[in-house]
Amino acid sequence: MKVLAVTSEIYPLVKTGGLADVAGALPSALAGLGVEVRTLVPGYPSVMSRLDGTTPAAKALNVLGVDCRLVQATVEGLKLIVLDAPALFDRPGGPYNGPDGKDHPDNWHRFAVLSMTAALVAGGALDDFTPDLVHAHDWQAAMAPAYLRFAKIDKPSVITIHNMAFQGQFPARIFSGLQLPPEAFSIDGVEYYGGVGFLKAGIQNASAVTTVSPTYAREITTPGFGMGLDGLINSRSADLHGIVNGIETETWDPASDGRLEKTYTSRTLKGRAINRQATAKRFGLEDDNSPLFVVISRLTWQKGIDLLAEVTPDLVAAGARLAVLGTGDAMLEGRFLELSAAFPGRVGAIIGYDENLAHLLQGGGDAILIPSRFEPCGLTQLYGLHYGCVPVVARTGGLADTVVHANTAALNAGVATGIVHAPDSANALRQAVLEAVSLYGDAKCWANMQRQGMKADVSWQRSAAAYAELYASLLN
Ligand code: ADP
Ligand code: GLC
Repeated sequence: MKVLAVTSEIYPLVKTGGLADVAGALPSALAGLGVEVRTLVPGYPSVMSRLDGTTPAAKALNVLGVDCRLVQATVEGLKLIVLDAPALFDRPGGPYNGPDGKDHPDNWHRFAVLSMTAALVAGGALDDFTPDLVHAHDWQAAMAPAYLRFAKIDKPSVITIHNMAFQGQFPARIFSGLQLPPEAFSIDGVEYYGGVGFLKAGIQNASAVTTVSPTYAREITTPGFGMGLDGLINSRSADLHGIVNGIETETWDPASDGRLEKTYTSRTLKGRAINRQATAKRFGLEDDNSPLFVVISRLTWQKGIDLLAEVTPDLVAAGARLAVLGTGDAMLEGRFLELSAAFPGRVGAIIGYDENLAHLLQGGGDAILIPSRFEPCGLTQLYGLHYGCVPVVARTGGLADTVVHANTAALNAGVATGIVHAPDSANALRQAVLEAVSLYGDAKCWANMQRQGMKADVSWQRSAAAYAELYASLLN
């Protein structure tokens, strides 16, 4: 079976969050199940620079008025089809915004071209690869199912929703630039509240809809989590699947992770102390035996980071330390810089994106805090489990599906892997932090929880099989 994956991020070439990790890891997990995946990605500078030295096969196309080349290459074991369209993607800044942090004004065009290219590849544009199925990720690729339908290319498609909060909504005036037939501007096409909705178009037109955890799949059928698309999600409930993410257990393996100060296994947990010391040093924290809480996150409302800022003085009063690595809202960044100034040696914040440091924090932190208001899946709790960095998480989405709360029954049965609290509440978060501090005081109990987490199967194996099964069902 041949699958064309379509994504705007892929680790290790371009990453702003978990989508990149998923797009980078799923293909090799699927390869073992007889599914050949090639991934269509935009030719950002960070992608194009990785093609040096390869001898890629290229195909010239004009898509929605833009001259492009489709460049095929294998990079870091990933079979890529790179959409080399300098007019759209050869720009400074991130994948979606310029150096000033503002969205590119032509994002609709950039990602419509990506999506239409996917449909062209499905229709046979490449000589050596015609997929049986298209798997589009998030709004940036979500027009692909619509292009398949309106170009009458009879191939099944899957849209995966990684985050309902990002929908790709644009004004009606862009419709003419999409080169779709007039009838596509309708409620069962791409029209959305009088404009054009990319994610809406994907959910409406794909053969199947998936999201990244069973709990989030249920949550998005409600107005609070569906964010305007809950009606449509409900209408597609027969084709909706919640498949929890896995992690890439080669890049993320505490026994061999070169980004750690010291590698370790569940039998040599003591080795974590060296990483903890190194972490404390990086964040300007005192080196003592108090619990070290860590955060590796986008600093945004979704992640409940404002709640954590509120609770931080209590965390410090309980004798713990906090190391925060993140970027995001300027106000939240400022809050944590202020908190680290207010509690020197107890709270440290590094504002930035640092993949190496993220690994060190998982290998050195005692507990990772993820107080999200909503969390489609979440990967940092999975890395935390795998690294013995005990997750303290809000009961929502994938967090609820992957962490076993340390209540008395779970502790007695030896199955607890973390602490789960009610979402969207500073009080609940405060209680969870205090609970963690108290459990940490019982070294044996804490180590049991760490080991139990490290035993959990967070690999892609099971979930890749679920995708393979879904693909097969759509091809039959
Ligand atoms: P989301 O995709 O919503 O941001 P996830 O938990 O799914 O959340 O994925 C976040 C990914 O980004 C993880 O791989 C995490 O380690 C990484 N990450 C987030 N913030 C940073 C940061 N400041 N520095 C390094 N890695 C980060
Ligand atoms: C999104 C979600 C996150 C999820 C990631 C990968 O960014 O916010 O919860 O883990 O996608 O699926």
